[in-house]
Amino acid sequence: MNERNSKLEQVKEEIRMRLDIVTVVERYVALKRAGTSYKGLCPFHKEKSPSFHVNPDRSIFHCFGCGKGGDVFAFLMEIEGVSFMEALKQAGREVGVAVESAQNRNQTYSGPTLNRDVAYAANGHAMNYFYEEMKKSTEAIEYFRSRGLTGETVREFRLGFAPDSWDGLINYLNVQRISPQTAALAGLAVTSSGGSRPYDRFRKRVIYPILDMAGRPVAFGGRTMDPEGQPKYLNSPETVLYRKNRIFYGLHQARTEIREKGSVIIVEGYMDMLMLYQAGIQNAIATCGTAMTVEHGHLLRRITGLVYLVFDGDNAGYQAAERAVQNLFPLEIDLRVVILPLGEDPDSIINSFGPERFNELLSGAVTGLEFYISRLSADGESETPQGKSRIVTSLATLLGGVQNQVLVAHFGRELAARFGVEEVLFRRMISQKNDSNRAGFESDQGKRERDLESLLNSEEGSLLHLLLTKPDQLFQWKEKISIELFSNSLFRNLYSLIVSKDVDHTSLIDEMDDPTMRDLFSLMLIRESLESSESIGHKVLKLEKNIIDRKIEQISRQLSMATRAEDKMRLLSEQSHLLKAQKGRRSNT
Ligand code: UTP
Ligand code: MN
Repeated sequence: MNERNSKLEQVKEEIRMRLDIVTVVERYVALKRAGTSYKGLCPFHKEKSPSFHVNPDRSIFHCFGCGKGGDVFAFLMEIEGVSFMEALKQAGREVGVAVESAQNRNQTYSGPTLNRDVAYAANGHAMNYFYEEMKKSTEAIEYFRSRGLTGETVREFRLGFAPDSWDGLINYLNVQRISPQTAALAGLAVTSSGGSRPYDRFRKRVIYPILDMAGRPVAFGGRTMDPEGQPKYLNSPETVLYRKNRIFYGLHQARTEIREKGSVIIVEGYMDMLMLYQAGIQNAIATCGTAMTVEHGHLLRRITGLVYLVFDGDNAGYQAAERAVQNLFPLEIDLRVVILPLGEDPDSIINSFGPERFNELLSGAVTGLEFYISRLSADGESETPQGKSRIVTSLATLLGGVQNQVLVAHFGRELAARFGVEEVLFRRMISQKNDSNRAGFESDQGKRERDLESLLNSEEGSLLHLLLTKPDQLFQWKEKISIELFSNSLFRNLYSLIVSKDVDHTSLIDEMDDPTMRDLFSLMLIRESLESSESIGHKVLKLEKNIIDRKIEQISRQLSMATRAEDKMRLLSEQSHLLKAQKGRRSNT
């Protein structure tokens, strides 16, 4: 951990110690005392009886209804829709602890677990490599120039070039002590099915580094320079760091302007984003070759209330826009849709007509709802009773996803009048859709909750729970318990995180990126384990036995397939060895 990180840790701990989580939560939720903790109605999902708990001693919250949980910073992030650094600053102000300016977010964000750290490092080195190679390549420089990109844009977005080599990046990473296998895991190299040595994924392509909001490269898009080349874009696969549904190209650079303008423009291509930015329209971002999902919507809602969707004027563009409206409208985002003239994209519009033309097109945007209605009416069917009924049903479905009843009433009235249906009837259709949506939502939550419970009650989970809630036991046992004991990778990662650090457990939450892990962890902390410390020994033995059982099973399977006599001999001897070990154990327990 570098110096800045440990400083941040200290500040974080300081704030956590001074700030009472109950005081903070009470501003949003009416809390009642219940034993050693407090409870109230969860602000993160709809419920009638309180399942949202806050434990002041552990400085943690957890909702047994929706499974959300975390520390005071996680609470602020979720409820205020701000980043971790912002939550930290906000909390810091309350208790008079200054948080160093977020200038170095790059470093302060870096995760603790080896894999993620290494993945960030690998991507960072790769970006430098591509950038340096670009500077050496007249071909790449000429390509960018021909697309109208200035040197400044190329520099600012660290556009790069992957030369025509099978191991250029692999060798470069090797010098940085990053193995070819790691490069493959990070999506930078590919292992062929023959399976010998990984080779560079990106070859002879210009490179667009994809950054996360904090500005760290998490993936790359590689474009062929050959007009006939296939595929046009080759992208990093999804990895621990890269989820397409959560990342927008250019968001790191566009963030400030999005906040200042109070709106965001979503375009389809990397090049579109870059050209707009260069032309001074700096609140645009691009999806990474995917449709707009609900997840994208949640992310956008945190940063702005007004979203312009700009799509190409072909059939695919219309369909993508329609789906985007379906996904984003229920989130109560103010949506505007722009469909470009056929054959144009934002890049070509800027190049041929300049930014004024693009802004004109923007000002002609229609609302998401109007766009949706025009699509539904496009086939001229709106005149027939059947056509009208189909449109009204589709609109009821769209409105059924909206939770805000004031809005539903507003649109319900307006649309009923417009399509000439009884308002009562239309409202009933909406609420039926709403019920079915909500039923789906609630059963999802129920399932999630049961999943967390069954994880907690499993053999591995209950051992971890015990260790976590009894720190003295953890101290005694951590030398004796190998990570191998946990067969479930979630527990394995959680356990290694817990023993890797000598800090207050609650503070680990901010380092967990896997939401299931975070929710499980907060559940463990808020609910004391009812089992006694004595059972730890039994549980460990049991799990050790499970490992041997699994190995024996594996060997029997291999035995049934083995053909060579020497393999059989070896396997048989291993098996008898394990069986003996197992017997020894049984007489011990
Ligand atoms: P486009 O084909 O519209 O490309 O794909 P573009 O962005 O206009 O790029 P230029 O102008 O030809 O250089 C839009 C987006 O779809 C994804 C990329 O994210 C691209 O920016 N895409 C497209 C792929 O991921 N793979 C492909 O093969 C094509
Ligand atoms: Mn284009």
